[in-house]
This record gives sequence, C-alpha cells and structure tokens, in this order.
Amino acid sequence: MALLEIENLVVEFQTSTGPFRAVDGVSLKVDAGEVLAIVGESGSGKSVSMLAAMGLLPWTAKVTADKMVFDGQNLLGMSAAKRREIIGKDMSMIFQEPIASLNPCFTVGFQIEEVLRIHLGLDKAARRKRAIELFQAVGIPDPAERLNHFPHQMSGGQCQRVMIAIAIACNPKLLIADEPTTALDVTIQKQILDLLMRLQTEHRMGLIMITHNMGVVAETADRVIVQYKGRKMEEADVLSLFESPKSDYTRALLAALPENATGDRLPTIGELFNPNKTVEGAA
Ligand SMILES: Nc1ncnc2c1ncn2[C@@H]1O[C@H](COP(=O)(O)OP(=O)(O)OP(=O)(O)O)[C@@H](O)[C@H]1O
Ligand SMILES: [Mg+2]
Repeated sequence: MALLEIENLVVEFQTSTGPFRAVDGVSLKVDAGEVLAIVGESGSGKSVSMLAAMGLLPWTAKVTADKMVFDGQNLLGMSAAKRREIIGKDMSMIFQEPIASLNPCFTVGFQIEEVLRIHLGLDKAARRKRAIELFQAVGIPDPAERLNHFPHQMSGGQCQRVMIAIAIACNPKLLIADEPTTALDVTIQKQILDLLMRLQTEHRMGLIMITHNMGVVAETADRVIVQYKGRKMEEADVLSLFESPKSDYTRALLAALPENATGDRLPTIGELFNPNKTVEGAA
C-alpha cells in the first residue's frame, strides 16, 4: 500500500475574474522510503497540490479528488480535528516561505517545543533537549541560545532551518519539502539534503521533493513528476527522465539547464517549448 496516494486532484480558486484551475487532474503515489521529485516552472501548481494534500489551502480553494489516502486513512472528508493529529506529525511539510510560516509573536524555541508537546507529549526538559538536537541537526549555531530568539532576529536562511527542524521534529512518515534549500548557501544546502536523505533511509520516510534544481533531482529522487500549468506532463524514474524524456516540455526543461546550453546565453523555457503544439497529448 502506498504511503500517499492521490488520484485526479483538482484545485480551483475563486477569483474576482472567475474560477481559476491551479491543479488540473494530478495523480501521484509515494511509498515509504521513496523520494518523489516534482518539478516544473513557477506557477505550475506544485505548492498548491501539496498544500491541498496537507489540507492547508484557504477557503477560496475548491479541492476535489477521486482518491486521497495517507497511510491507510482517507483524507477526503476527514474532520479538521483528525487532520490536525496527522499534520505536523506523520505528514509534514517544509514550506516554501519559511518566514511567513513562522509566528512572529513567539520565540522559535517555543514554536518547535509546542510541536513536541502537542504531538509527542514530551515534558519540558525532554522538549528542550530534543529542540536543541534538532537545531544542531539543521546547522543552527549556538542552538540553546537561539531557542530564545524571535523569527525577526534571525536571517532568512536561519528561519528556513528552523522550519526544517519543526517539520522533521516528530520523525514524519511523509515529508513534503517545498524548495527546502533555496534560501541557503551551498554548504548548508548539502547538509540539509544529506539530513533529509538520512531520515529517508533510516526511518523509511517518504519524501516529496519540490525543486527547481535538476541537480537536486538527479542526486535525490527515485521518481520524478513534471508538472506544467497544473497538469502532469510526464512521470518517470529518474534515470529515464534524464536519459530519454518523453514529453517536449521535459526536453525543454532539460535543455534550459546551464550545463546543456550551447552558445553564450541560456534559452528560456518559452523559447524551447510551444504549449500549443503538445499540451493536448500530455500524459
Ligand atoms: N490563494 C490563491 N488564490 C488564487 N490563486 C492562487 C492562490 N495560490 C496560488 N494560486 C495560483 O495557483 C497557481 C499555482 O501556484 P503554485 O504556488 O502551486 O505554483 P508553483 O508551481 O509552486 O510555483 P513556484 O515554483 O513559483 O513555487 C499560480 O498561478 C498561483 O498564482
Ligand atoms: Mg511553489
């Protein structure tokens, strides 16, 4: 049984100009211990589809699916109270906007310790010990001291690391990492990716990695989904995707990588891909 299985997910936002379909029939599956990468240009519905799975979209979003099952539990029609038990514990997400997802009114120590208190019921001393361990694991210097800081006292990269520490605090069965390393410099990026991969192998954690970085995809993913305008263009194991991409869009995405560029400037996806030609025949 897959850890997460989604069939035919559709997300429509009510906007002032009418309904807007941000996700249009996406299906996916992730097993325990598996890494699924989701790639695709900005606005292709990567974040929205995963926020829908987490049940975290605003009320303006209409979410429908034929199936949405996590760890044997039906997420469709699940009560908000039941969802709150799962979210942040067994299924958690590293959000793309780390600063916006931290509460400015509380210290980062309080925020991580709350997760440990609510989901694991740890006492004060155990919470503090675990919070320090987690801060250490994500490369926050002077962790004991840092716990007393408010988000605004930390840099963007440090807030991102706090977010990551919160997301992995309860050893989730499934972690959705939405551009987890974009605000970080290269050495920290590597440390975080190594940490996520270690959790994935040691705890058989399922990992959904949303990223623009095809190098990260090549290094971490077992399978890749390529999304374009809310639709799945292609799904393949990582080797086949790089060696023999099937859709024109994936070929364009790969051709736009710096290492594949010819001449003195990078082509844009727009120059490489004509949607009118291929979207209809997409996967
Ligand atoms: N609350 C909302 N109301 C209306 N439209 C929204 C809302 N949130 C997202 N969208 C729209 O849904 C589409 C998909 O957005 P999404 O954030 O999933 O893109 P993405 O693939 O994650 O892009 P990026 O790579 O830039 O993070 C975009 O056109 C976006 O503007
Ligand atoms: Mg996004």
